Amino acid sequence: MPSQVTRLRTRHFLDAHAQGTKFSCLTSYDALTAGIFDEAGIDLLLVGDSAANVVYGRETTLSLTLDETITMAKAVVAATQRAFVVVDLPFGSYEASPSQALESAIRVMKETGAHAVKFEGGAELAPTVEKLVAAGIPVCAHIGFTPQSVHALGGFRVQGRGDQADRLLADASSLAAAGAFAVVLEMVPAPVAARVTKAINIPTIGIGAGADTDGQILVWTDMAGLSTVAPRFSRTYADLRATLTEAASSYIADINSGSFPSEAESFQD
Ligand code: KIV
Repeated sequence: MPSQVTRLRTRHFLDAHAQGTKFSCLTSYDALTAGIFDEAGIDLLLVGDSAANVVYGRETTLSLTLDETITMAKAVVAATQRAFVVVDLPFGSYEASPSQALESAIRVMKETGAHAVKFEGGAELAPTVEKLVAAGIPVCAHIGFTPQSVHALGGFRVQGRGDQADRLLADASSLAAAGAFAVVLEMVPAPVAARVTKAINIPTIGIGAGADTDGQILVWTDMAGLSTVAPRFSRTYADLRATLTEAASSYIADINSGSFPSEAESFQD
């Protein structure tokens, strides 16, 4: 992916797919992490509705609201210069009709400055993709395991196994034909994700979908070792939970012993 551009665009991701170049994605929900990941060179940041779990400590993503999403997305966009910022439309803000989705997406684009929206669902949402794309809003689709449907899917389960693989490919194809610029494949067998990536003309972004998707995405707290339990498909690149726990414990101990603050850390007159 180009490193010198001021802002990545949908065309850079489409080019990456055509050229077989990999790209990197992470979630972010605040200005602090967005700035750090942007400086590190991440290509795409997702203000994911996983914020319901990570930021708000809720059991599922279902209760996240559009207002909560917009507050976080504003901070993420403001802290970045190069990363392409995608914002999840939360459960209940797009399913009723293409018009409802357009209204929600317009709020996101207008109020946050984000570059695209993402929502969960297959071919049944192709008309919604068409509607948003016709209004000038780039759409990232999301199929496979879709956390907003966790109850209907019977829990966190791999999707697209066996006979389901053809359905997954049909969903990806119709979302691409409707104008989506990318599609997230979550918890899909690696050979199925490879097949979808080969068959469609837009990039795939995998999470628990093997090595052959164009892009990879992880929830940043899983990647950084902050989550108490991370999914099997995740990789941990730091142990921030241990580092932060140690820092907080030392701070508490220094206060209790009277060694913080020192004279140098205090104002005299
Ligand atoms: O909400 C989210 O974080 C997501 C990614 C994990 C794909 O949808």
